[in-house]
Amino acid sequence: MTDARPTTNNAGIPIASDDHSLTLGPNGPILLQDHYLIEKNAQFNRERVPERVVHAKGGGAFGHFTTTADVSRYTKAALFQPGVRTEALLRFSTVAGELGSPDTWRDPRGFALKLYTSQGNYDLVGNNTPVFFLRDPIKFPDFIRSQKRRVDTGRRDHDMQWDFWTLQPETAHQVTWLMGDRGIPRTWRHQNGYGSHTYLWENAEGERHWVKYHFKTDQGIETLTADEAARIAGEDADAHRADLWHAVERGEFPSWTLHVQVMPYEDAAGYRFNPFDLTKVWPQGDYPLIEVGKLVLDRNPSDHFAEIEQAAFEPTNLVPGIGASPDKMLLGRIFAYPDAHRYRIGANYAQLPVNRPKSRVDSYAKDGAMRYGNASDPVYAPNSYGGPHASAAVGSEATTSYGVEDAVVRSAYRLHPEDDDWGQAGTLVREVMDDAQRDRLVETVVAHAGNGVSEPVLRRVFEYWRNIDKGVGDRIAAAFDGRS
Ligand code: HEM
Repeated sequence: MTDARPTTNNAGIPIASDDHSLTLGPNGPILLQDHYLIEKNAQFNRERVPERVVHAKGGGAFGHFTTTADVSRYTKAALFQPGVRTEALLRFSTVAGELGSPDTWRDPRGFALKLYTSQGNYDLVGNNTPVFFLRDPIKFPDFIRSQKRRVDTGRRDHDMQWDFWTLQPETAHQVTWLMGDRGIPRTWRHQNGYGSHTYLWENAEGERHWVKYHFKTDQGIETLTADEAARIAGEDADAHRADLWHAVERGEFPSWTLHVQVMPYEDAAGYRFNPFDLTKVWPQGDYPLIEVGKLVLDRNPSDHFAEIEQAAFEPTNLVPGIGASPDKMLLGRIFAYPDAHRYRIGANYAQLPVNRPKSRVDSYAKDGAMRYGNASDPVYAPNSYGGPHASAAVGSEATTSYGVEDAVVRSAYRLHPEDDDWGQAGTLVREVMDDAQRDRLVETVVAHAGNGVSEPVLRRVFEYWRNIDKGVGDRIAAAFDGRS
């Protein structure tokens, strides 16, 4: 066999054998100077980085987003100007399972989008659901722990899950979603993506609007029944990874059409419910969908670890013309992600090819483990030697701020007239689901709560569902009658 490409070690030095360690005679002891054997094993021992504490299992692909409509009256963000095309990375994930867990378990799906814009990276780190379980980030670690594994058995536990949910009624809307048909998408291609939070958009004249993002799948919504999902989980834990990969390889590029709901800035204070509450959707009768553009995935990663596992998405990454809102969850997330990346990947995670902006970076960051880009020179600001200058005219935080004057407190949101925990969950059950979907909802909850949930939690499960919808709650309770 010809040796066209000799194996080298990591320093590029050719190696004599892929099969044999360096020994003193064929049977002899291994020699310490076998630097290649040592490098190979030492590298192997260090192959893992910590998995994401949530959304560990996922997959993704590259593509592009094109703005097809004119929304410049709402935002000056360069990527949302008519005709602009921006390179993109989209990562899908489940939330609670670990790195090897089945893709078809019932769970929300992450929909994490990185847009490499001309003004720096814009990350929209959303889910396939328009709402979330909580409205205050202080509860996020408690919530996630209740969905993960018990201290004693090391197993996931439905009693723990329903204990948390029923003690925290703000979960009702998202739990109803989760237990409904959309709780298990057929594939990642057959689901919508949502920014979920409310964001702030600002146009070139300084006018501000609140927005919510909806990425509608062009493949159509399709879901799996609980039985189908269980069977697929047993047959191929990576079924959704495989589906996306093969679709892209076949040239069947999945796409999503982005729409936004836009609320005039002044409407927020007097709206009938708190428009920043992440457990709520904005009815489209009040704020209709406005089309913005199209997201297409057309390229698979060539190295899953380098490009997907090490991808670092962060709600912190907001470009000029787009800002945060007073949604407490969003503000909590702005801390959480870069902190997680520094721990999971390292201080210079933003320099990795998948995370590096395609636009110029002129930060005053310097040094740290695994840094390989050149730092700015001089390395301090202000300076007299031509270093970059921050500018209020272009700075993203400065141009999308909102005023607040209030006392420092630990408190729930101030109530708007129609704020409550159960209303929108009930609307989902009664007005969005049909009879067959409601039947499957009852079946799913009965099967889930029937698997390991004990008193007093079980009684609270019935009350929780009666608060969402009396009929559904009664049917769930009735299914447990006569069970020991
Ligand atoms: C991942 C925290 C709420 C969507 C993560 C990670 C952390 C985190 C630490 C792992 C990041 C990493 O290691 O790369 C939080 C906190 C939240 C919160 C503290 C609330 C206070 C949400 C919400 C959504 C969401 C509301 C969706 C609307 C995601 C997604 C990922 C993720 C999609 C995976 C990103 C990827 O693909 O790498 N979250 N999260 N999270 N979170 Fe959250």
